[in-house]
Amino acid sequence: MKIDLKNKYIQYFLSKGHVKMESASVVPENDPSSLFITAGMQPLVPYLLGAPHPLGKRITDYQKCFRLTDLDLVGDKTHHTFFEMLGNWSLGDYFKEEAVAWSYEFLTQVLSIPPARLAVTVFEGNDVAARDEETAALWKKAGIPEERIAYLPAEDNWWPSFEQHGPCGSDTEIFYWSDNENPAPAVYDPSDKRWVEIWNNVFMQYNHTESGAFEELAQKNVDTGMGVERATAALEGVDDNYLTEIWQPIMDKICELSGKEYNQDTERAMRIVADHMRAVVMIAADGANILPSNKDQGYILRMLIRRMLRYAKMLDIDITSDFDVQIAAVIADMFAAYYPEVRENFGQVEKVLVSEKEKFAKTIERGLKETMRFLGEVEAGGRLAGEKAFRLFDTFGFPIEMTVELAGEKGISVDTEGFQRCFAEHQEKSRKGSEHKFKGGLADTGAETARLHTATHLLQGALRTLLGDGVQQKGSNITAERLRFDFSFDRKVTREELDKAEAIVNQAIAEKIDVIKTDMPYQEAQASGALGFFKDKYNDVVSVYEIPGYSKEICGGPHAQNTAELGHFKIVKEEACSSGVRRIKAILD
Ligand code: ALA
Repeated sequence: MKIDLKNKYIQYFLSKGHVKMESASVVPENDPSSLFITAGMQPLVPYLLGAPHPLGKRITDYQKCFRLTDLDLVGDKTHHTFFEMLGNWSLGDYFKEEAVAWSYEFLTQVLSIPPARLAVTVFEGNDVAARDEETAALWKKAGIPEERIAYLPAEDNWWPSFEQHGPCGSDTEIFYWSDNENPAPAVYDPSDKRWVEIWNNVFMQYNHTESGAFEELAQKNVDTGMGVERATAALEGVDDNYLTEIWQPIMDKICELSGKEYNQDTERAMRIVADHMRAVVMIAADGANILPSNKDQGYILRMLIRRMLRYAKMLDIDITSDFDVQIAAVIADMFAAYYPEVRENFGQVEKVLVSEKEKFAKTIERGLKETMRFLGEVEAGGRLAGEKAFRLFDTFGFPIEMTVELAGEKGISVDTEGFQRCFAEHQEKSRKGSEHKFKGGLADTGAETARLHTATHLLQGALRTLLGDGVQQKGSNITAERLRFDFSFDRKVTREELDKAEAIVNQAIAEKIDVIKTDMPYQEAQASGALGFFKDKYNDVVSVYEIPGYSKEICGGPHAQNTAELGHFKIVKEEACSSGVRRIKAILD
């Protein structure tokens, strides 16, 4: 390893009194605002808002993240679907002074970046927050000359954005001069693309409420984020992320399997195969039990596999071979030291790849032919009807993203709205507007989610009382309207049993019980009989939520304070989820 950025970063912040937190699942739990975690801070939202974190006030980690907003750009030198984000947080502890001093020290001393290659931006000020001269002065004190500090508006230096709700604040971004041929100009020009953003420090001190107000939070937080792939490329002095240590073993494998070199003709397809394979491995191995399907995360997994297969075919790789599992093995080797679940769940990755590929490999040939026929009937500059795009999806399993892309290559657009209409008509439940969910919203920490989350704990308790300890949570997903709970059990749960479970939960609600939260070491929590899930098992100190007499679980929250807040509990559906796993959907009314 040449740069070893992750380890250096964590070591540095440990030396500054931080505690390392394990990466949360790439699928947010109890957070309906996005299908995947899009930033390192997302699992920390309740704590940025003031809840005490069991690991303390200084936290550092690398987090599995996923963004789909720029899917069409993946294949260039710098965009990825799955990526890792390094971060350090102050939860109401240190603020601007330490954040700036440590950022500078880490970059110039630990990573040995010459100060002459650095520039920063700070917030220029608006109605909500003043011009951030304090941070600019701190940068100057650290060693950044005035000409390398730019004041920019909220559009650039407010995170996540001035419009989005939830915890937010002004930020200061650090840029690296990426041009190895020419020295950085003395004066920083934010529009010069050779300056690459490598790190963002957000001073989170507001909560942007639904009513539009920017309320001062009770505590001042620091939230930082450094994209591992991009920062590594900058540090290695290459402008193509795929040439770094992070991607090289994967690219080598793809070259070997295709018998081709990485060059102008092959680079786009190779990058897409590499990017999508990495995303597929990290989603399938995550432990959240995501399987290819036609909605939500399962749809994304399916789409990535199918799109990857198309590009592998373009590289003349025999897609019926085990090439995908071979690439996955390289990826798993690279990640196992950081995410133990990747090795533990590799069998699941293999299964997902083999079965999804079998389904698609049979139809891709015919599907491509049919697509070309459809497109041949449309004039260049024209539009492919939504019904046709839906036929390709329905009959050949062509994800709409792939059809749009194939059409685009011929200068044809696709009526995606028409496609969505057909899809919605066809499916009892559509994908629930998942497109806009990708925009990367923050957690809705609203009362509704907290109430449903508490109901989920009560439901698990009730099912275990009725059906035995074989019932174990396999997954949980909460939207503002309903809870979804997946659990191990090998037969259908009868309506009578569901009625009984409902009655137990409603009894707990009627008893108006306080939900008690206690922080304790993981071992102690386990010994006390608290139920735990995979994602918590790597942290030393955990929170235990107890509803005495009904439930005791290790969990990150947030929860209702008293069961009385839940109102009335109702199970609306019970169905098979996967082999040996049942799924219950329930609401509070
Ligand atoms: N949350 C900030 C980001 O993702 C640090 O850029």
